[in-house]
Amino acid sequence: MKKAVFQLTFTAFLLSIVLLVLPLVSYAQPQQIHLGLGIKKSPSRPSPVLVTWFSAVSQGDEFLKYGVNEGKMKSVKASRTGFSGGSIFNGVMEDMKSGTRYVYKCGSDKDGWSGLYSFRSEPDTGTFRVAIIGDTQNSANNEGFMITSRIAGLVRIYSPSLTLHMGDLVENGSVTANWTGLLTATQDLNEISPLMPVLGNHDVQSNPGGNFQEPPQDYHLLFNLPGDEVNYSFTYRNVRFIGIYSGAADAAAKIDQVKFKPGSPESIWLDSELTKAENDRTINWIVVYMHYPVLSVGWSNVDKWRANIQPILERHKVDLCLAGHRHVYERYFQMKRGVMFKNDQTNILSTGYGTIYITNGTAGGNPTALGGTDLSSVAFTPDRTMYSFGIMDISDKSIAYSVYDQDNTLIDKFLIVK
Ligand SMILES: [Fe+2]
Repeated sequence: MKKAVFQLTFTAFLLSIVLLVLPLVSYAQPQQIHLGLGIKKSPSRPSPVLVTWFSAVSQGDEFLKYGVNEGKMKSVKASRTGFSGGSIFNGVMEDMKSGTRYVYKCGSDKDGWSGLYSFRSEPDTGTFRVAIIGDTQNSANNEGFMITSRIAGLVRIYSPSLTLHMGDLVENGSVTANWTGLLTATQDLNEISPLMPVLGNHDVQSNPGGNFQEPPQDYHLLFNLPGDEVNYSFTYRNVRFIGIYSGAADAAAKIDQVKFKPGSPESIWLDSELTKAENDRTINWIVVYMHYPVLSVGWSNVDKWRANIQPILERHKVDLCLAGHRHVYERYFQMKRGVMFKNDQTNILSTGYGTIYITNGTAGGNPTALGGTDLSSVAFTPDRTMYSFGIMDISDKSIAYSVYDQDNTLIDKFLIVK
C-alpha cells in the first residue's frame, strides 16, 4: 500500500514538473514568425526572404537555419531589436536558387527552435501566385482575429508566393497587443508566404493633431519592408509591385493634408518608380496597392485622394490598382486617362483599355455594407455582404484573378490579357 502511495505521489510530482516546464519551453520558442521580401542584389537573382520572429525570454543569440533540405541547412545569426515584452529577431535567406523549395527554422539550442517550415523561392520563369487580403482589423466581430485566422488558413491552401495586404491590419495601431495578436493569428500563412502590407487609417493616428498620419513604431519594428517601409517598390519575377500609403485620407482632406499632392516628394517618387517600371523590359505588369480606394462611393470616397493618384497611375498605364478600406469586394470598369471603358465581355479584360481598380473587401473587419451595386462604373460586386480574399496567378501574358468568400466559394473570376 505504502509503495503504491509513493508511486502515485512520485508520478504526480513528475507530471507537475512536466506541466510547469512545458509552457515555459513553448513560451521561450520563436513566436509570430513571418516572412518578408528583401531587395535583390542583382535582377537575375531571386528576392532574399527575410524571417522575423518574436521571443519573450531569449537573452542570447538566435539563429536562422535554411537550406534545400533539413540535412543541408546554412546557419545565420539573427539581428536583435528590443520590443515590448521581449525581442524581435531578423534573419535573411539569400543566395537561393530560383523557384526552389527551401526549408527553414529559427531559434537557438538554448531557448528552443521553431517548427520546420518551407516556402518556394522566387521563380525566374512561368506562373506564380499572389494572395490579396485587406482590413484584418480586430473589430468587435473579429475579436482575437478569429475570422482573420480562418481566412489566413484558407489562403494558405493556395500556397501563394507572396501576400499583399491592403492595410487596416489592426483596429488600433497604437496598441502593441493588436500587432502581435495579428501576427500570431496569421502565422500559418505568414510562415510560408512573405507578407507585404501597406498602412491603413486604423493603423495610424487618424485624428488631426499630434502624430497625425504618422506610422506607429511597432509597424517599423515588426515588418522589414523595402525603402522607408511606408511607400515602397519591389520587383518579383515579371511584376513591379508598388505599395503606397494613403494616410487617413478622409480626415486629411478636411485640412488639406491628403498624401501624394502633385509636386510632393512622394508624388515625385511614385512618378519616377512608375517611369522606371514602364521602361524596364523585364517587367510585364505594374501593380500598385494602397488602403484608400481611388474609385469608391459614399464615405470611403475621397475626391482629393482620387485627384492626386488617378492621373499618375493612368499616365503610366498601371495594370492593376488594388485597395481596401471599404469592406466589400468591388471591381470597376477599366479607366484610361480618366475615361471609362465598358466592354461586353466583362471577364476577359485587355490591358490596352486601361487600369483596373479593385477594392479587396475584408479579411476580418466587419462587412456591414454592400458594394456599389447601383453604380454604373462597377463591373462586378456581389449582392450580399461577405469576407473575402483574392488570388492572382500571374504569367507573362495574363493574370487570372479569383476572389473567394469566407467559405472558400468562388465569387468572381476574370482574366487580364496583354
Ligand atoms: Fe480603413
